[in-house]
Amino acid sequence: MRNTDVLVIGAGIAGLTLAIKIAEQRPDLKILVLTKTNRGESNTRYAQGGVAAVWNPETDNHEKHIADTLDAGDGLCDEEIVEIVVKEGPTRVKEFIDWGTRFDKNKEGEYDLGMEGGHSEYRILHYKDLTGWEIQRALIEKAATFSNISIEEHYFAVDLITQHQLGRVVTRVSSNIECYGAYALDLETKTIETLNARMTVVATGGAGQIYRNTTNPVIATGDGIAMVYRAKGRLENMEFVQFHPTALYNPAGENPDFLVSEAVRGYGAILKTAEKKEFMEKYDERKSLAPRDIVARAIDNEMKSRGVDFMHLDCQHLDKEGFVKHFPTIYDKCISLGIDPFKQMIPVVPAAHYVCGGIKTDPIGRSSINRLYACGECTSSGLHGANRLASNSLLEAMVFAHRIADDVLLTIDKHDFVEGLPEWNTKSTTDPKEMVLITQSIKELKEIMSSYVGIVRSNVRLKRARKRLDLLFRETEQLYTTTTLSPQLCELRNMISIAYLVTAAAAMRKESRGLHYTTDYPEQNDYIETMIM
Ligand code: FAD
Ligand code: SIN
Repeated sequence: MRNTDVLVIGAGIAGLTLAIKIAEQRPDLKILVLTKTNRGESNTRYAQGGVAAVWNPETDNHEKHIADTLDAGDGLCDEEIVEIVVKEGPTRVKEFIDWGTRFDKNKEGEYDLGMEGGHSEYRILHYKDLTGWEIQRALIEKAATFSNISIEEHYFAVDLITQHQLGRVVTRVSSNIECYGAYALDLETKTIETLNARMTVVATGGAGQIYRNTTNPVIATGDGIAMVYRAKGRLENMEFVQFHPTALYNPAGENPDFLVSEAVRGYGAILKTAEKKEFMEKYDERKSLAPRDIVARAIDNEMKSRGVDFMHLDCQHLDKEGFVKHFPTIYDKCISLGIDPFKQMIPVVPAAHYVCGGIKTDPIGRSSINRLYACGECTSSGLHGANRLASNSLLEAMVFAHRIADDVLLTIDKHDFVEGLPEWNTKSTTDPKEMVLITQSIKELKEIMSSYVGIVRSNVRLKRARKRLDLLFRETEQLYTTTTLSPQLCELRNMISIAYLVTAAAAMRKESRGLHYTTDYPEQNDYIETMIM
């Protein structure tokens, strides 16, 4: 048993920002941050395009950023939250700059603002095509300056601790569920530790790994969302999974798929057919820079109707020197695969990129479980609605980390450690004999989700997915109750929960809206509903 004042599960932008903000104000509080691999590995680290924020008052204003976010969100954004994030965002970005984060500047010494799909103005602050890497670097360095922040690497959070573990009945309609910390598997000692916390924050990121093709690193298995679901916390909008239109097509297959940033289209690259013909004007007047749901669906439709494996991104008309300066990683990656973006078009395919739904939080970042907050991609804060606007995710994490830190600082002294938390029960389990049972199930899960719950859905496909997932669920629960815990088994179990939630929410939505498109209900309903689970 280990006591910590604040337990933060996750060391991406959400978790580290929050830890720093609490540590700055209260050197007396112990903050423990967990990461299931090393502190540099997260979705944050791979962010390319940048952070959207109203920066140039001569061209941009809050109203425009709010309107773009609401337009992308297709009727399901919470307007109060959109206003909060857009208005508080620029101050939070300035703090990141003060903490040592570098963003590119132009020749005049002003921040070089980029453009991405769905934005009506240039407002994306970026560091080459490595914005996330730079943010993660600056946060790790800043966190290291506080002696009251401990980051535990290779610590896998398995489950939240609530009254349930104290033997009390907790149901999905209970209003007084409280969180007392979490059980975590120390991957070095292979023991499960009881982490007793006065306040807990889930900042575990996304779940792109439930699909075969995803831009998300292998850590993105939806653990936090699944843990909160098991603890009977509220989730919403799980049907809205964002597919990024332009992952690099690599016939050799790689996990994750390499992203070709939307900022490349913001820089002037154009989507084309193999015959070098533009096609996006058939789908939206904003063409290659329409919001992601529209572009990803258009590419999917063109690929299916033409029977091809990828579409093309043409950069050949762009200034090479500027391109290489802005997008060195993308350029190098293409060259490494024998694709010279200035001699040929880049082959691109859509790939799962971002889960817009997740743990339902309020304007302060509180979940429906007392003493439990959630921050970052694992949440449904109300900002994204049915489709996230590009580069709004890093901004959301910055804004909510600040709000949560304020609330933790205000309330933590009212809460003490809970006595008598039980240790994890490992009785009657044995070491896994056949790892293939887990790895094969993960493959099956990805196939099910990619074939039946992807960009285009239908009642028949969703029904089939549910049936297949049921079987996987039963087999995995059997393994879980008899086998010693491993991260792979926990991740499989979590991914099955997420897959089930996405499929169930998709089946409940009898319309097409934002990222959810079904051939059985191709139109939008007049009555707008949020799917709460
Ligand atoms: P993450 O950064 O994913 O961090 C999650 C943390 O939780 C990790 O430390 C992980 O180890 C830990 N964790 C997870 N499960 C457990 C567990 N069971 N136990 C212990 N620890 C756990 N957004 C933008 O706004 N702009 C962009 O330009 C942009 N580009 C992107 C490009 C790519 C390729 C990708 C994949 C995403 C991009 N996004 C972008 C989205 C954005 O990067 C993420 O939404 C955001 O970084 C998520 O931050 P986070 O802190 O919530 O989670
Ligand atoms: C990108 O660079 O295209 C990703 C931006 C985002 O996901 O917000």
